[in-house]
Amino acid sequence: MKILVTGSSGQVGTNLCLALQQRGDRVVGVDKRPNTWTDDIPAIQQNLASDGMPSPAALAAVAPDFGRPDLVVHLAANAKVHELVIDPRRAHENATITFNVLEFCRAHQIPIIFSSSREVYGRPQPPTVSEDTTDVFHILSPYAAYKMADEMLIYSYAHCYGLKYLVFRLSNVYGRFDGDLERMTRVIHIFIDRLSRGEPITIFDRHKVIDFTYIDDCIAAILLGIDKLMAGDVVNQTINLSSGSPASLGHLAMTIAGYLGVEPEIIDKPIQPGEISFYIADLTKARTLLGFEPQVPFEEGIKRTINWVQRWNELQYQRGQK
Ligand SMILES: NC(=O)c1ccc[n+]([C@@H]2O[C@H](COP(=O)([O-])OP(=O)(O)OC[C@H]3O[C@@H](n4cnc5c(N)ncnc54)[C@H](O)[C@@H]3O)[C@@H](O)[C@H]2O)c1
Repeated sequence: MKILVTGSSGQVGTNLCLALQQRGDRVVGVDKRPNTWTDDIPAIQQNLASDGMPSPAALAAVAPDFGRPDLVVHLAANAKVHELVIDPRRAHENATITFNVLEFCRAHQIPIIFSSSREVYGRPQPPTVSEDTTDVFHILSPYAAYKMADEMLIYSYAHCYGLKYLVFRLSNVYGRFDGDLERMTRVIHIFIDRLSRGEPITIFDRHKVIDFTYIDDCIAAILLGIDKLMAGDVVNQTINLSSGSPASLGHLAMTIAGYLGVEPEIIDKPIQPGEISFYIADLTKARTLLGFEPQVPFEEGIKRTINWVQRWNELQYQRGQK
């Protein structure tokens, strides 16, 4: 298959592109910045908000016989909830990106897979959250509002233009090719970084419960989605995706500290504006439609992530970049 991946320099994009290549698919990425993790992904550097999708000539320049993609996996976004509370124009930009990607898909009749977010649930309620409980009246942040808008635009394109899609609602993906903290501060990698240095960590609501998703589970579900969508077996569905192994932020801090063998110094702060305080995904749809079964529970994922961070830092040190 020939797959165009937007946001290919990001965490999910990098892992997905490499996984697709590994199983024999052809991939071209598009991202506004270079990939800092690997040189193995052929990609076009382009701002999808201001410049739209790449032309056939731009595609041909990085992959001469690629031609028309069979599928677009659309991951590009400004993806940090709190940063978009501070600067909502970046949330607005996400909708422009999605509009441009959708117009490309409409013009070339290409199906799309879109990465939405559990943030669209507004105020999710225990015990678990199923896809049909989306609550637009309690959307808590500009990021969530525009993810919802992106989804609704996709649904309208399906209705008006016959677009075929799958929407995945992701939840705190973590693991490899993440933790570029100068660009994007994500809780697991901040905790690993600070605790490794013996520095205090700040927890914005230690009781906040998150359904963390180890990167391999995330990629496995997207690969299943790609195959089901392209075979016509599962079309026009919105599906929760997580590792099904939730934890509170307090437990996260103690787990990382335990693996690192340190006593954490914790500064407690209230939850930040725009963030949700509870989410556990109902994975029934992912299981029944895709045959997805998460493989990496929280503790195992954290252990693998710490190992990966330590190996990556060591490699950078040897290369003289740290
Ligand atoms: N990782 C998570 O925990 C999580 C959770 C819910 C939803 N999502 C969604 O999944 C997608 C991928 O997330 P990620 O963790 O890989 O994020 P990421 O920030 O690591 O990657 C997103 C990529 O999009 C690129 N991008 C942003 N604006 C662009 C533009 N105008 N033109 C071209 N490229 C642009 C960025 O440079 C970045 O490389 C995002 O849409 C995000 O909102 C992620």
